[in-house]
Amino acid sequence: MTQRETWATRTGFILAAVGSAVGLGNVWRFPFVTGEGGGAAFLLVYLLFVAMVGFPAILAEFVVGRKTKRNPVGALREYGGSAWKYVGGVFIVTGFVILSYYSVVAGWFVRYFLLGLTDSYAGHLAAYEEAAAGSEEVTESMVMFDTLATGLDSFLFHTLFMALTVGIVALGIRRGIELAVKVMVPAIIILLVGLAAWAATLPDAGAAYAYYLNPDFGVLASEWASILPAAAGQAFFTLSLGMGVMITYASYLGEDRNLAEDGTIIIGFDTAIAFIVGLVVFPIIISGGADPGQETVGAIFFSLTEAFAELGVGRWLGLLFFGTVAIAALSSAISILEVVTSYVIDEKGLERWQAALGMGGVIYLLGVPVTYDLIFLDLLDGFADGVLLVFGALVLMVLVGWIAPQVAVDELQKGIAPLGSLGDVWIWAIRVPLIVVLLVALYLGLVDYVEFLTGDFAGWVAATL
Ligand code: PHE
Repeated sequence: MTQRETWATRTGFILAAVGSAVGLGNVWRFPFVTGEGGGAAFLLVYLLFVAMVGFPAILAEFVVGRKTKRNPVGALREYGGSAWKYVGGVFIVTGFVILSYYSVVAGWFVRYFLLGLTDSYAGHLAAYEEAAAGSEEVTESMVMFDTLATGLDSFLFHTLFMALTVGIVALGIRRGIELAVKVMVPAIIILLVGLAAWAATLPDAGAAYAYYLNPDFGVLASEWASILPAAAGQAFFTLSLGMGVMITYASYLGEDRNLAEDGTIIIGFDTAIAFIVGLVVFPIIISGGADPGQETVGAIFFSLTEAFAELGVGRWLGLLFFGTVAIAALSSAISILEVVTSYVIDEKGLERWQAALGMGGVIYLLGVPVTYDLIFLDLLDGFADGVLLVFGALVLMVLVGWIAPQVAVDELQKGIAPLGSLGDVWIWAIRVPLIVVLLVALYLGLVDYVEFLTGDFAGWVAATL
């Protein structure tokens, strides 16, 4: 067996993990699921979930990866016994599903970046003035999004983005990723903080903060059955948990790392970025007179094109912003394809380029329907987020909490210090409360998804065929 590569630099692992975590989940998905969940009530549950479930779960993936030094399927087989490899197989399926639509959405960001190259965002919006005239609810930015999000444009940019992802994974360029993340994460934070400061000056900023930051416990009490699974899915998605990314990345790790510290850094960056996105998006949406609950998958595009159209330097800000997010999405997409590819290389003995190209090709095809109609985005995203990721995380918790807890604690202690009773707290938190919460979230997520399949989706099929 050849020696397995390890991260070239001490920070290489953190950079790659942050690069995986920070992406469309923070910028694109977070604002619209928060809007659907009613704002502050959702934010509260999401933050609790990140801290109380996300943190123990990221540690669980780290220890399984570092202990076994394998791709997720091999890792679960070695850690839990041969039947567990089927569970690892679910991770691979999840990777296929997520990356297929992720690439389409990332393509939208590339498209919006290119808009800024040819004209100001105000200029682009003006072209849709007529189409949006005469309606109270529909704005130019919405018509523009609808035009670009499906059809030929969307298809071409999906193709481009997927080709880039496959190319990078096929060549196995790790150093490029580390550098990109070093530039991208600070750039995103600076841009977002600047935009949030501008958004604070908008007329309805106060109302937006109340909506986003002041939870209505009545809403929480009545809507918890939809908020809980949505918050769980969003937490796992944004932290890249529940499908083996962190197992894979930790498998290249030396034993001197303090995993708890690394986990805290990764979660801290990821959560901070999502949180600031909310401070940008909600003042713009609410000051524009729209209802954040109705904005759906275009929310970030509507609100930001309007902001960039209004600001004097908007064109440059837009270029920087959409460009940076596209790079952030690329580093996340790479991490997903890396899971699938490393599995095929390790378990099926293919060459890296064959594995990346073959798997990338199938994933690409799976994403094509999304460029045709956005109902397929709901079909794939709902399944991945509401069901697959929560299932993946649940299974890992059972493995670490019940099947081999001592191995996990021993592994976690390496690079830290003997944990004493903290190790027990971790295992017991996983064993009962976290597993129960995840079971409930999975059940509710399944119910929601079945409702979507038999409702909206069945309706679409009936209307289309
Ligand atoms: N965490 C990434 C994001 O927020 C998406 C992702 C999900 C990446 C699952 C890997 C695994 O954009």
